Amino acid sequence: MIKRKTISYGLFVISSIVLLRYAYKFTHNEITRSQEVSHNQHQTSREDSGAGSARIFQQHQPINPENLSPLNNVIQSSDLQMNTSHQPAAFNNSSLDSAASNLYGPFLNTSRLIQALVESLKSKLAVSDPKVVVKNIENKCQAMRIEYNDSCNDAERICPQKVLPENLKARIEQLVLRDSLQISEEYRNAIRNMTDEISGYHDIIIVGGLSSNHYREAQSLMKHVHEELFPVLKNFSFVVYNLGLTEKEASKVRQHCRCQFVRFPFERFPPHFKTLKCFGFKPTLVRALIEKANIVLWTDTVFKITRNITTVIDRARTMGIQQMYLPTNYPNPSHTLEQTFHFFGDSPCAHMAFNQVAGGFGIYHNELLTKRAILDPWYACALKAECTCPVNQRQVQRCPYPYSTKKIGLCQRNDQSSMTLILSKLFRQKYFDFVINLNRFNPKSKIPAFYNYFEEIENKTKVNTN
Ligand SMILES: *[C@@H]1O[C@H](CO)[C@@H](O)[C@H](O)[C@H]1NC(C)=O
Ligand SMILES: *[C@@H]1O[C@H](CO)[C@@H](O)[C@H](O)[C@H]1NC(C)=O
Ligand SMILES: *[C@@H]1O[C@H](CO)[C@@H](O)[C@H](O)[C@H]1NC(C)=O
Ligand SMILES: *[C@@H]1O[C@H](CO)[C@@H](O)[C@H](O)[C@H]1NC(C)=O
Ligand SMILES: *[C@@H]1O[C@H](CO)[C@@H](O)[C@H](O)[C@H]1NC(C)=O
Ligand SMILES: *[C@@H]1O[C@H](CO)[C@@H](O)[C@H](O)[C@H]1NC(C)=O
Ligand SMILES: *[C@@H]1O[C@H](CO)[C@@H](O)[C@H](O)[C@H]1NC(C)=O
Ligand SMILES: *[C@@H]1O[C@H](CO)[C@@H](O)[C@H](O)[C@H]1NC(C)=O
Ligand SMILES: *[C@@H]1O[C@H](CO)[C@@H](O)[C@H](O)[C@H]1NC(C)=O
Repeated sequence: MIKRKTISYGLFVISSIVLLRYAYKFTHNEITRSQEVSHNQHQTSREDSGAGSARIFQQHQPINPENLSPLNNVIQSSDLQMNTSHQPAAFNNSSLDSAASNLYGPFLNTSRLIQALVESLKSKLAVSDPKVVVKNIENKCQAMRIEYNDSCNDAERICPQKVLPENLKARIEQLVLRDSLQISEEYRNAIRNMTDEISGYHDIIIVGGLSSNHYREAQSLMKHVHEELFPVLKNFSFVVYNLGLTEKEASKVRQHCRCQFVRFPFERFPPHFKTLKCFGFKPTLVRALIEKANIVLWTDTVFKITRNITTVIDRARTMGIQQMYLPTNYPNPSHTLEQTFHFFGDSPCAHMAFNQVAGGFGIYHNELLTKRAILDPWYACALKAECTCPVNQRQVQRCPYPYSTKKIGLCQRNDQSSMTLILSKLFRQKYFDFVINLNRFNPKSKIPAFYNYFEEIENKTKVNTN
């Protein structure tokens, strides 16, 4: 009886284990999201042998942090304010970066903010791998024979950008100053409340979310986190969001998770947040948690990293972000509706050179560029149904197969769509340095994908007390 009940809950996975079962049946009639987060051993070997993956793997070369120019040279404390009461606050150098990039503490002087972000972007591009670049970025719809009309439409006041700008200032301005990407006071406060709910300031926060559909997979991930990450990481907190569990399920999780277990406050956000497949919660909680740690690491139940996690984390400290990526993924416009591109001011064709990231794993570093130019626009898009979930998600949840890379918007991948779009705009030909193929860090896990971890813990406790 109890077993049966427990089967109904679990760690929420963006791309569930159900999807994982299809992981490399590429001959199947449809491609599901799980294929994009699969951590299957077979896939690993297949990609390791591919020429494409060889290019991606070059990005793990060590970086000399001394080549990064410190932000502090650019930002003056007098340009900052601590909160919206418009009183300038005094900062020492150590508090400067986090204060500057605080959601509720904008720069007083916008041009200095842009300048600081450009400097930071420049320093990251300077340490990227010169040999690995995205090709054919400037191809237009017509040249690629894509049937998409991206000419200006005065009636609908749409005039999409056809080539992503090379100029660094233009890149930053398009992500930071664009009207559609501004976050209202209401939603800045909502984030702030979520930040306040988390106790302590940590080097690392590992975060996941739970909903009522994948119980044993969730327990499998929890066992992985406890047994394989806890011993390796120092100074961290494990945060788990309740995205809709029953009381009983929630109390089991609270009892065994060794985590900060918090409820996601859906009522403070727009109605589309309640559709979990729109993934509004993810950019939101990452943006809230980044104020409480140097590193936020989001992980799905299907993805278990078991090797050299600190190597990957250290890379994120330098580059600002490491978002999971599989070379087998599709061009972002194939899996993203045109509305999302328009929200950012772009033609979908301008993004054809960039394959979509995977949402199952991402590492975010608490620094100005990551917060202002990546996580804020990501959150801003998540807040607007017209950007992240422009139509009924059920209609665009499935990506048809066989698909055509000449077609735009075959399906919608929400947070993955917008994250890819942002990274493409910001890093352009250096995109590969900010995404990471984690497969080689992810050998076949010793822990089965389905596991009654809570029962195991309870059995052990019984033995001990007997
Ligand atoms: C905002 O700034 C004012 C004036 O500096 C200060 O009194 C207030 O406590 C601050 N509020 C928060 C939430 O930091
Ligand atoms: C810098 O400011 C922070 C927060 O305002 C404070 O905790 C810290 O002690 C200060 N460091 C120095 C070296 O003054
Ligand atoms: C902050 O750092 C800059 C450059 O590293 C230095 O010139 C400045 O004196 C420092 N300011 C404070 C208040 O320590
Ligand atoms: C903002 O900073 C720029 C560059 O440092 C400077 O030229 C400008 O005068 C500043 N504006 C204000 C209103 O302080
Ligand atoms: C493309 O769209 C524009 C604006 O709506 C329109 O004027 C033009 O005729 C369209 N071109 C084609 C080939 O459909
Ligand atoms: C945010 O938290 C504050 C203080 O805990 C509380 O007074 C306020 O009602 C909360 N705001 C929302 C929208 O829940
Ligand atoms: C943990 O890391 C945070 C952020 O770097 C730091 O402020 C805190 O002092 C560290 N705590 C311990 C016990 O090392
Ligand atoms: C893990 O780290 C060790 C030592 O830093 C290195 O030799 C090894 O190649 C790394 N493994 C992977 C999969 O990157
Ligand atoms: C827990 O104990 C029961 C009864 O001894 C056993 O049937 C079950 O397999 C155990 N579960 C686990 C996960 O060890």
